[in-house]
Amino acid sequence: MSQQAPDQAHADKLVIHNLVPADLQSSFAEDLRAGLSASPKHLFPKYFYDELGSQLFEAICLLPEYYLTRAENEILTSYADEIVSEVSAEKVSLLEMGSGSALKTRLIIEALLKRQEQLLYTPVDISATALEQSSRVLLQSYPNLRINAYASDYYDGIRALQEQPRGRTLALFLGSNIGNFDHEEAHTFLHALRGVLKKDDALLLGVDLRKDAKILEDAYDDALGVTAAFNLNLLTRINREFEADFNLRAFRHQVFYNEELGRVEVYIVSKQTQTVSIPRLEMEIRFAENERIHTENSYKYDQTGLSQLASATGYTRTRTWLDEREQFSSNLFIATGEG
Ligand SMILES: C[S@@+](CC[C@H](N)C(=O)[O-])C[C@H]1O[C@@H](n2cnc3c(N)ncnc32)[C@H](O)[C@@H]1O
Repeated sequence: MSQQAPDQAHADKLVIHNLVPADLQSSFAEDLRAGLSASPKHLFPKYFYDELGSQLFEAICLLPEYYLTRAENEILTSYADEIVSEVSAEKVSLLEMGSGSALKTRLIIEALLKRQEQLLYTPVDISATALEQSSRVLLQSYPNLRINAYASDYYDGIRALQEQPRGRTLALFLGSNIGNFDHEEAHTFLHALRGVLKKDDALLLGVDLRKDAKILEDAYDDALGVTAAFNLNLLTRINREFEADFNLRAFRHQVFYNEELGRVEVYIVSKQTQTVSIPRLEMEIRFAENERIHTENSYKYDQTGLSQLASATGYTRTRTWLDEREQFSSNLFIATGEG
């Protein structure tokens, strides 16, 4: 008996719109040029997610120190049925920004498929490989699922979604991905997403909460060094894609919880004075000893901040679920009349 390849088996249920290749390389080049010429130097976290970066993130989710994934998983395991019952419609479509491996999404998919026969799932992720792998695995598990995926940056995805007709929608933004944005960017993003939702559509926003500095710093600087590898992999990616000569052994990972700003700051630190060349950008970059590249912020929220975020961007925060240790929050934002 011959077996159909998964791609053929799912050809009628899976569409992946790849919006990435057209301009990612040129915007990466522009962002590199600007970020490495700036003072202080910085790069954007979306560039962590090449193929290895996506795999390293999956490994981070298994680390004892990285409580975020476990806490959110615990909430969704306990409350997915209750969460989906808050979305008032017989038939709901599921949208997800930054879906990654979509492991936690399975809990929401299963809760929805208890209430309706078919489900349309629209994931958006900048990592085409993560999107392809997760889509195929989901389709193998759920015969009544259809997937219309966008391999793209959030904003290109949002633009494309404006053209897509959907019924009542539950959007997901999990894993405290919102924390990578500063407050102004978080407003811009949620407002843009509100633009593709209709009144009474819902957004489930997974947000990490403010807590003790040691717990936060350990979560982003684990003993095994996986988060360090995830951060330094950015240099490997620049070496590969731009023929740069970053010597990874001459840089290290650094993490600091900035309590005043409520954010974990992640840096790559130059261990010595050195010059790195990036031939494809015709750039030579000088580093002083201990000079840093700021690669990521992860903002932490409290309940008041979350309500303000919702009301400022066209939603009402109607429910919040916490894990038992109250480390993480899953928040239901319902789109209000004013978009
Ligand atoms: C921290 S992981 C979270 C993955 C998953 N949602 C979870 O909760 O475990 C961030 C995900 O968002 C994607 N991502 C990061 N920046 C993005 C951007 N600007 N546009 C689209 N996707 C992005 C990454 O590829 C990755 O899959």
